[in-house]
Amino acid sequence: MNLKKLAADEAVKLIEDGMTVGLGTGSTAYWAIMGIGERVKNGLNIRAVATSEASDRLARELNIPIVPFSEVETIDVTIDGADESDHSLNLIKGGGGALLREKIVASSSKRLVIIADESKVVERLGKFPLPVDVVPFAVELTLRKLAALGCEPKLRRKEDGELFKTDNGNYVADCSFGAIADPAALHDQLNNIAGVVDNGLFIGMADMVIVGHQDGTVSVLK
Ligand code: A5P
Repeated sequence: MNLKKLAADEAVKLIEDGMTVGLGTGSTAYWAIMGIGERVKNGLNIRAVATSEASDRLARELNIPIVPFSEVETIDVTIDGADESDHSLNLIKGGGGALLREKIVASSSKRLVIIADESKVVERLGKFPLPVDVVPFAVELTLRKLAALGCEPKLRRKEDGELFKTDNGNYVADCSFGAIADPAALHDQLNNIAGVVDNGLFIGMADMVIVGHQDGTVSVLK
């Protein structure tokens, strides 16, 4: 069973005519974009903004009307995936490298709806290495400061061994902290480091997490 699609289909039902919709990034958000494309084909009238070049491309292929950010004041609902969610709806995101654009879009959204398969819901965040978006300049110095916070930062590489670059030309440091005791405090500590653009902790941003389960059911964390 496709648990990602199960959660995505439920989220897509929340979209109504006239809305401005934020499109997430990743293999779960993919299914939401596909579902939105299907509804647009059947007459749904919306406009959308995307959180990555990949999602932008997919949406255009499906004839979802993408508008420039200059034409958008608020986004009614954004549907996006996550790498982990705890029961307080704090998230780790950025496994796909799009955390910066995702956070910008999420922070301008009236509602952030997260879709996930059941494996993503955890008691404590941190098993998934926390992605941190860093500028390439003097990155070694930034990595040392990250390590001083108690993690092992690793610059993300592509399959060919080249350093991965985000849509904004930054690097991603994947930081294994282990269980994160105080996600909000860590979020602020990370963002206080010069050279860090943003990190994958999304604190108090999600309004609901729609979870797809193996038995075919869907549950909602609010
Ligand atoms: C993209 O940068 C991420 O924040 C994704 O939303 C997150 O990594 C979840 O991706 P999957 O849906 O592919 O697991």
